[in-house]
Amino acid sequence: MSEIVYLNGEFIALENAKISVLDRGFIFGDGVYEVIPAYSRHPFRLAEHLVRFQRSHDAVRIAYPFSDAEWTRLVHDLIARNAGEDQSIYLQVTRGVAKRDHAFPKDARPTVFGMSTPLVTPAKEAVDDGVHGITAVDYRWLKCDVKSTSLLANCLLRQQAADAGAVEVVMFRDGFLTEGSSSNVFVVKNGVILATPKDNLVLPGITYDVVLELARANGIPLEVRPISEAEVRAADEIWVTSSTKEVLAVSTLDERAVGGGKPGTVFRRMHQLYQDFKRTVMRQAA
Ligand code: PDD
Repeated sequence: MSEIVYLNGEFIALENAKISVLDRGFIFGDGVYEVIPAYSRHPFRLAEHLVRFQRSHDAVRIAYPFSDAEWTRLVHDLIARNAGEDQSIYLQVTRGVAKRDHAFPKDARPTVFGMSTPLVTPAKEAVDDGVHGITAVDYRWLKCDVKSTSLLANCLLRQQAADAGAVEVVMFRDGFLTEGSSSNVFVVKNGVILATPKDNLVLPGITYDVVLELARANGIPLEVRPISEAEVRAADEIWVTSSTKEVLAVSTLDERAVGGGKPGTVFRRMHQLYQDFKRTVMRQAA
């Protein structure tokens, strides 16, 4: 089965999908995107992803091209046309094709693209042992709540982690935790989960919301408030969360052990709750 993608109204083979070099996504990174995990061919938290997708469009003033029902159809079609029980659905909309000029074109039509790649969730070893993290100053722009395809800073920061043999970079702005290059970051201290507030400095993660819901539903102490760099460095546990990483423990930060240097007890509980929750949701969808 060759990979089938969606481009501007058509489902076609990946190798036949072509866009103009004048597409503003290519020229300016002028676009927004979503990454939606699908388990057993069922998209997870699709409605929530679509709410965020629309918010991203509104924030950058790209007309939202489809209704939620149309997006839902498109996502299900992509899943059906591609191989694999677990897939990662990528949706991207750019401002479209126009002569190069920073100001918005008057009559460009948004370019709409969708693809599926195999969903590769963390290996058992990463879940059991945790992963390496490094820290960096967050030098991205001040609209990190928008899921924009302008990801050069995120790519540079992630490569900094890769060069250091780490999986993710934990970022600070003005002495406070923001997030990772492609994940949200949680901290645990004395059994209490600390979460960064949702503001313009972090992406409002769909997985972040699930973690908050699970903590509240299961009586795990939780505080949502600014978290200082000192608190992160003295944390018992650090986690990163995203649609593809799910919930993953950071066992070393800048080559120093986090807590006992192994994923902690609160992580293990949350990881189990997340897996159980996923299974329940997928059973209901089936
Ligand atoms: N990234 N923060 C940033 C900067 C992200 O890019 C992501 C997700 C998250 C977590 O959001 P969610 O839980 O909704 O996946 C936080 C996706 C997976 C990506 O760019 O591939």
